[in-house]
Amino acid sequence: MESKTVSIGIIGGGLMGREIASCFARWCALLDMPVTPELVAVADLNPAALSWFDRIPSIRLKTTDYQEMLASPDVDVVYVAVPHQLHEKLYLDVLNAGKDLLAEKPFGIDLESARRIRDAGVSSGRFVRCSSEFPFLPGVQRAIALVKSGVLGRPLEVVSGFHHASDLDPDKAANWKRMSATCGEIGVLGDLGMHACHVPLRLGWRPKSVYAQLQKGYPQRPDGKGGMADCDTWDNAMLHTWIDLDGQETPMRLEMKRLAPGETNTWFLEVLGTEGGVRFSTKEPKTFWSFERGSGDQWWKKTDLGFGVPFKTVTGGIFEVGFPDIIQQMWAAYLAEREGVLDGRFGCATPDEAVASQEIFAAALASQASGSTVSL
Ligand SMILES: NC(=O)c1ccc[n+]([C@@H]2O[C@H](COP(=O)([O-])OP(=O)(O)OC[C@H]3O[C@@H](n4cnc5c(N)ncnc54)[C@H](O)[C@@H]3O)[C@@H](O)[C@H]2O)c1
Repeated sequence: MESKTVSIGIIGGGLMGREIASCFARWCALLDMPVTPELVAVADLNPAALSWFDRIPSIRLKTTDYQEMLASPDVDVVYVAVPHQLHEKLYLDVLNAGKDLLAEKPFGIDLESARRIRDAGVSSGRFVRCSSEFPFLPGVQRAIALVKSGVLGRPLEVVSGFHHASDLDPDKAANWKRMSATCGEIGVLGDLGMHACHVPLRLGWRPKSVYAQLQKGYPQRPDGKGGMADCDTWDNAMLHTWIDLDGQETPMRLEMKRLAPGETNTWFLEVLGTEGGVRFSTKEPKTFWSFERGSGDQWWKKTDLGFGVPFKTVTGGIFEVGFPDIIQQMWAAYLAEREGVLDGRFGCATPDEAVASQEIFAAALASQASGSTVSL
């Protein structure tokens, strides 16, 4: 099959910029993909971050000034992975330069910023999506399909969350994700919230109200230069929400934690109904739990999952899926949808979904401040 080449530029060559570069480098893993990304340019303020990209032979431009990349007619799509206070400026600059955009979450430092980015995307006519990779896991795809099939019966409750323990060690140096000025007042909500909200929002489960319990972690951390730095962001968030599920008022809990003992990167989803249920966690990435009942019995069925990803790959069907695989699946979805060949498969988070997640985060901040339930 002939595959169209799309030129990509990356702004922000840190943790995520490198992850994305590596996903392009093994694009040959995908079968029947009508689009092939070619990473041609990278911009980062830090020359040391840029030098990592020396290993990518297709890169023709490395620059500390992202405007130089945006001025290049050589770049079709730009992926931006920078601290949150820079999202709005850089995303708007990408759109004004006439490029398509895969934006990192949380899509602006706060709700107003997210709305302005969404509106600029609409008025520019460019193709814009927001990064969120976990729905591309086979277990999540299976959960979505079962929920949509209607076999769950009367809905009882939903839990969707993302836990890690990256802030448990008090000696870990502070970085921009621990400070409101750079991560946003929303703190952990901006860091992990899109991951918890994306599947519920895609299923149409928009909270009608939110009661939030937000917690802070260590107020100071080593600054990495011999001193201490103030860390003022929320670290843990439990959002107790009401959603309308098949006409039933249903409780949905959204959990985002950077202080979750024992968790490295645990994304999870549980949906329970009177007739059926689904439960999936990256803690056991090949295990899918589904609940059934009948003839007086109830049982949880444990299914071993294989490599059932939306975009087919060379990887054998019995093997396990990992983080780099779903990052690649997300990019396959972005490029396929941009080309109009998504063909009913799961698409990346839309600007409206990103704004909807920020509406939840803004309501959570208001709830925390007032100690009361906030309507959306
Ligand atoms: N989808 C995911 O799973 C996931 C995971 C982690 C982070 N993220 C998101 O990715 C984004 C970046 O996070 P990260 O962990 O990669 O951060 P990082 O700190 O590792 O990397 C950010 C990079 O941006 C560069 N940078 C800063 N200002 C710049 C500018 N003006 N021009 C060019 N480069 C600039 C920095 O030098 C740094 O190399 C954030 O929005 C974050 O929320 C997403």
